[in-house]
Amino acid sequence: MTARPGQSTLAIHGLPHRGADGSPAVTPIYQSSTFRNPVGSLAEVGYTRYGNNPNQIEVARRYAALEGAEAAIFVASGMAATALAHLAVLRPGDHLISSRWIYGGTRTLFDTELTRIGIDITYVDPAKHRDWRKAVRSTTRAIFLEALTNPLMRVVDVPAVAKVTKDKGLALLVDATFASPVNFRPLEHGADVVITSATKYLNGHSDVIAGAVAGTASVIDEVTRLMRLWGPSIDPHAAWLTERGMKTLALRVARANANAQAVAEWASTRPEFEAVHYPGLASHPDHALAAKLFDGYSGMVGLVLKGGAAAAARFCGHLKVITHAPSLAGVESLISEPRLTSHKALPPEERAALGIPDGFLRLSCGCEDAADIIQDLAGAL
Ligand SMILES: Cc1ncc(COP(=O)(O)O)c(C=O)c1O
Repeated sequence: MTARPGQSTLAIHGLPHRGADGSPAVTPIYQSSTFRNPVGSLAEVGYTRYGNNPNQIEVARRYAALEGAEAAIFVASGMAATALAHLAVLRPGDHLISSRWIYGGTRTLFDTELTRIGIDITYVDPAKHRDWRKAVRSTTRAIFLEALTNPLMRVVDVPAVAKVTKDKGLALLVDATFASPVNFRPLEHGADVVITSATKYLNGHSDVIAGAVAGTASVIDEVTRLMRLWGPSIDPHAAWLTERGMKTLALRVARANANAQAVAEWASTRPEFEAVHYPGLASHPDHALAAKLFDGYSGMVGLVLKGGAAAAARFCGHLKVITHAPSLAGVESLISEPRLTSHKALPPEERAALGIPDGFLRLSCGCEDAADIIQDLAGAL
């Protein structure tokens, strides 16, 4: 048996195959909503809402290979991926267990939309390992978690949770957006479904909104069925841009990992920061777990500036290399304050109790030179 290609090769080629002579080296853009149909044919029609446009098929093929999944599907956003993956495995009356440490948009989707269709949800603090099992009821169908959390960069023990889902016959859905398949592949650790906001590392250039789900062919068939009905298929141009971005995924993630490690080590020596959250630091509570599960510690760093909101605002106002903007994982470094973005809905005391005091800065290290990112941060101090 030939060895499985590495992540760089998979990102560039998918599973390597010899193309026909004269065929283009790069997938062309099929900016077409529909495709000529043989007269009298009962075969499935080619229609871009159905997810069978060649650009949609090709990008999904590459992503499935990167996750080590049987199949994958791209949709119009990370939120669409999360919504459809859950609709695919849950029915009214079912119970979902979710990590408490999740993206705010996902939390709102669960609390407003999943509950509206009769799905009951229990939130578990992943630091309390025994609570996953304790939360299981006769109606529980699935557990959802984010492998690497925002903005404290906590690492959730996916194999330990997978033990619970296997024992109890539940589905384990993992949002691995912050890690990317270069740093962590949940299916290798017992997850059943991987969800990613392709807006982030997969595309990597801050110019596309997209999402993807990977897993067994039967789950992806169900997500595809729902996508055709609810309609959030990915546009061919967005699929093409994502495929183009994915070719450099391994290179970009390696650089972002290295830049974040350098920034975290530098920031740890500066008295202006009260705390530095990065799993690549030996001081991080999940350093050992991250070292065991991950191939890299990610490009995301949490920095807590002394002086609260006023200091953070002054600091961000002086940055020149780093862009003050939400989102993450582009080639350009981005910085945001959770108090104004992901954790805006919570009062300051509740945020502080979660470990996210005012003055918290979430830095997404891009692919610039580490020295320039650090110089920009140092200048702003
Ligand atoms: C962890 C995580 N999952 C999902 C999403 C949603 O992705 P999108 O903005 O592509 O819909 C985000 C967005 O920031 C995210 O951070």
